[in-house]
Amino acid sequence: MRVCVFSSKPYDELYLRPALADACELLFLPVHLNSHTASLVEGAVGVCCFVNDDLSAGVIEVLAKSGIQFILLRCAGFNQVDLNAAKKAGIFVARVPEYSPYAVAEHAVGLILALNRNIHRAHNRVREGDYSLQGLMGFDLHGKTVGVLGAGKIGRAFCKIMQGFGCTVLICDPNVDVNTQLPGQLVDFPTLMQQSQIVSLHCPLTPQTRHIINAQTLALMPPRAMLINTSRGALVDTPAVIDALKSGRLAYLGLDVYEEEGDLFFEDLSNQVIQDDVFARLTTFPNVLITAHQAFFTHEALARIAEVTHHNLCAFIQGDPHSAHLVGE
Ligand code: NAI
Repeated sequence: MRVCVFSSKPYDELYLRPALADACELLFLPVHLNSHTASLVEGAVGVCCFVNDDLSAGVIEVLAKSGIQFILLRCAGFNQVDLNAAKKAGIFVARVPEYSPYAVAEHAVGLILALNRNIHRAHNRVREGDYSLQGLMGFDLHGKTVGVLGAGKIGRAFCKIMQGFGCTVLICDPNVDVNTQLPGQLVDFPTLMQQSQIVSLHCPLTPQTRHIINAQTLALMPPRAMLINTSRGALVDTPAVIDALKSGRLAYLGLDVYEEEGDLFFEDLSNQVIQDDVFARLTTFPNVLITAHQAFFTHEALARIAEVTHHNLCAFIQGDPHSAHLVGE
């Protein structure tokens, strides 16, 4: 039984091969799954996909015609999958709902610390023999108000770390009951934006959250605010954020995700000319720090992804899909 592992990198193979090899034959493919590459699944019964693979209706139709019976997502988010199309085609879709909330929460904190204390710039200066401090001044996190959008597994882990710094934590999550015990104070979205010096995004990408950070909502933030997005790129309207950076309203931006990251992230493009002018502009700001979707990338998270993907695969093989982490259930 063959499973095609799309968008695979050497580190995926390192963790997935030992975990899954007893259950199936694995074909590691470095290319993204999309309408041009879907025909590569010929002879396979399943695919294993990641965040930037295209699982829209057209691609799912090709997979179904080729005999694909299951999609194993090796990530938590599933906004890249047309679930109706998968259901119609009778293809079972499973994911890894949780691998290490700490990996992502700690990376968000890393972006905050680096941006605030200009560690990225200080590192470059010291390497050049420039030991001056002009332009590197930061602020104490202690006593600041941090707003957290989305109080799920990652959001809550992030809140607890920020409370450890002595920050006041505000939380906005429409799905959380007011009586729930939370590591912070539950507020509505406008209050979160108005009162937080730092806002960190930890909600999924849905029609309701697409471009939730836009010109209107950025205008609510206090002057010289910081925005951190380790969730999904399309939560943020990037041109609006660039305007806010240019006007100075937004003083710091930390990104691990970008709306159009599919053509950029996870690849070495250092010998190529970047065609995305919006992304290129973002990289010119001294107060913008970008990592290429690496928040999940810890040993513990990759080991857990492999373990849960193995569990999902076995559930399918044993004819017991409901014991898998099915998407949409
Ligand atoms: P989760 O499902 O545990 O929590 C998401 C929370 O967001 C839920 O409490 C939900 O009620 C809330 N939410 C939904 N709509 C909202 C809205 N309109 N406003 C505020 N809150 C809203 O998910 P988890 O594990 O905490 O992950 C959060 C997100 O982090 C994922 O959806 C994914 O996009 C992103 N992620 C990023 C990774 C990276 O490497 N950069 C790795 C893993 C996840």
